Amino acid sequence: MTELEAIRARHSVRKYTDKPIETTKVATIRVAIENINAESGLNIQLVLDEPKAFSSGMWKYGQFSGVKNYFVMAGPKCNEAEEKIGYYGEKLVLLAQTLGLNTCWVGLTYKKIPGTFTLRDGDIVHCVIALGYGTIPGVQHPQKPMENFYEADGIPPQWFKDGMEAALLAPTAINQQKFKFILHDGNKVETKTLFSMAGYTNIDLGIVKYHFEVAAGKENFTWL
Ligand SMILES: Cc1cc2nc3c(=O)[nH]c(=O)nc-3n(C[C@H](O)[C@H](O)[C@H](O)COP(=O)(O)O)c2cc1C
Repeated sequence: MTELEAIRARHSVRKYTDKPIETTKVATIRVAIENINAESGLNIQLVLDEPKAFSSGMWKYGQFSGVKNYFVMAGPKCNEAEEKIGYYGEKLVLLAQTLGLNTCWVGLTYKKIPGTFTLRDGDIVHCVIALGYGTIPGVQHPQKPMENFYEADGIPPQWFKDGMEAALLAPTAINQQKFKFILHDGNKVETKTLFSMAGYTNIDLGIVKYHFEVAAGKENFTWL
């Protein structure tokens, strides 16, 4: 499965089976995390076989069940780091999908379990991403017209439309899709976040920018 195929196949999955993640797949994911942390300055960690974050005492968080594995998306506390959390987190989400695993970004409905991850000075946990074998592959979120999400002079080139199509398939918090892409001079792409009461718009933007890059092709444009 290619990354583009993974973009089309991915949906948030909140219910997981007991099937453990094979050691070869865990090794692949750990290498990817190591490379991403070195490149980005983030502090992403993989937690395995830890059921408490999604089910603690009387509380069962959100609509989740069977979550035992997750990425802790830690890094510095700033807007730039938030966008990186989205961008690199989605790279891991798509890697997981190509490995036959399912995922769900989680901003709210989890608990931080002391001792399962470490933070450097200045780091915070921005969110987590559930990981494992889903009981179902998930369902496609509702689609809105692409034209609502971009500005361009005239009809945009095919690569831009391909990028927008992939951006609209991306996960965003409560499916809020609070972003806009603007095409300048035929090959420069500016992005903006729009206001949201729910927040998470910088993380969302990083996620949609990763999808856009995969489908549009990095060679066709530069980010403004
Ligand atoms: C930053 C972020 C935070 C999210 N937080 C939660 C959450 O706390 N609980 C939850 O059930 N889903 C959460 N989601 C998943 C979104 O609800 C989901 O991505 C969106 O509805 C689109 O559906 P899809 O991922 O299946 O395409 C989050 C997604 C993102 C990107």
